[in-house]
Parts: sequence; structure tokens; C-alpha cells
Amino acid sequence: MIEHEFGVPFPGAVVEQSKWTHTALKVMPDGHLDWAALFGSSTAPVVLDLGCGNGRYLIGSALARPTHNHLGVDVLPVVIRYARKRGNQRGLANLKFAVLGGRELLERHVAPHSVAEVHCYHPQPYYDPAKVHLRLVTPQFLALVHRALVPGGRFVIQTDNPGYWKYVRAVVPVFFEFRELAGRWPDAPKGRTRREIVALQKKLPVFRAECAAKADLSEAGAVALAEALPPPTFDADRRLRALDELA
Ligand SMILES: C[S@@+](CC[C@H](N)C(=O)[O-])C[C@H]1O[C@@H](n2cnc3c(N)ncnc32)[C@H](O)[C@@H]1O
Repeated sequence: MIEHEFGVPFPGAVVEQSKWTHTALKVMPDGHLDWAALFGSSTAPVVLDLGCGNGRYLIGSALARPTHNHLGVDVLPVVIRYARKRGNQRGLANLKFAVLGGRELLERHVAPHSVAEVHCYHPQPYYDPAKVHLRLVTPQFLALVHRALVPGGRFVIQTDNPGYWKYVRAVVPVFFEFRELAGRWPDAPKGRTRREIVALQKKLPVFRAECAAKADLSEAGAVALAEALPPPTFDADRRLRALDELA
């Protein structure tokens, strides 16, 4: 049976039950994750999705790229439950999901220069002024993304929020070679993620960039640059809030 979200097929299909896997990462270590131990001795490149929602992008990537290991985190337990269930039922051994903040994951559990790709699709804009401090993309977060990545590693960031994008364009190029993408994702023209599908169906512009970690920037240098940059106090435009509730 093919599952659909907003009329768009969800990647993969349910395999016979004897092939189901366990994608739940329930207990985090005190320190850094041991990627090979987490993925059954596999030393394949690691892909992270921070704020992964229901895991749509990562599940599609894990299916399309058995050569890579994938970890998705989100602060909302209910979305991780959906992600795990679908990952398990597709028999994916190169995929894990945990309930955790993106910044906490990078700060406490990811060894420097141990990850090939970090993806961040539609970070929550937080319209309520009292919650603006919860926005994920801050200069300090970007320094942590830079630290996590291998030299030249990829950072993919995307939003449909113009205020968020203006901020991203101002701060991300400090740490990364910033490459804004013109069209839709060739691998998922109807949207890589649940939120992207909703935004495209509502005819909102979707802003995407695929960036490479600057190779000549040290960890200390990135931290120093982060301190000099402004926090994300942009106007998120409350008119977009209804769409968030739908997504
Ligand atoms: C607009 S949704 C986008 C979900 C998914 N990436 C997509 O594009 O469909 C934002 C997601 O970020 C999660 N989130 C918010 N703050 C977070 C944080 N600090 N760390 C990780 N996830 C976070 C929310 O729970 C929500 O699932």
C-alpha cells in the first residue's frame, strides 16, 4: 500500500513484518555518539536532519542512499513517533530518530568534523514574540553546524518564511559557501518535506540553499564570528501562522 500526504506519495512502502527494523534512538550517550556503533558497524557518511518533523526527507534519502547513515531529531515526540513507525516499517537499517533539540544534538553528542551533511527544512519561525528565543538558526547554532561537518561538508537550509530567509542570507554566508538554489528539488519536485509540500500547494515561495562548510574557518574562529552576529529577531509575519497549524 502506498501512503500519501496531501496527495503526494510517501517514499517507500511497508515491507513484510519480519524485515522491520528499530529506528528509535531512545537513550543518548553522555558524550559524543559513536556513529559506527549506532549503525551496526557501518562507517558510511552521516546525514543529519534537524527539526525533521515526520521524517519524510530522511526516509526518502535513506531509501535512495543506502550508502549513507541518517539521524533525524525533533523536539516534538509525536512527529518522531510517526517517523520511527514509517522508518521501521520500511526496514531501514541506515536510519535513526531521536526526540531532541537540534542545537543540543550538535553541542553535546556530535564529534567535531564527523558528519557529511546537515539538513534543516523549514525551521519553526515562532511568531509569538515570547518564543522568538526558541528559533533554531542562530549564529551559535551555525558555528555548531560548521564544527559538526567534515571539511567541505554540506549544509542544506530551506524555508518559506521571507523574514527567516533574509536572516539566513545575512548570517549563513559567514560560515559557509552559500549557494542559493533556483528551482525545486529534482528528486522531489512536489516537496522533500511535509511542510514544503504544503507551502508549494499554497503557492508560497520556497527558499533553498545548499552550502559548503568553509574549509579555512577554525572552530575558535567560527565561535568568535558568531559572537559578533545579530540574533534572529526578524519579523516572522504572523499571516503565515495559519499555514503552520495546517502543516
Ligand atoms: C515547520 S516544522 C518543519 C518540519 C519538517 N522539517 C518539514 O519541513 O516538514 C518545524 C519542526 O521543527 C521542530 N523544532 C522546533 N524547534 C526545534 C529545535 N530546537 N530542535 C529540533 N526541532 C525543533 C518542530 O517540532 C517541528 O517539527
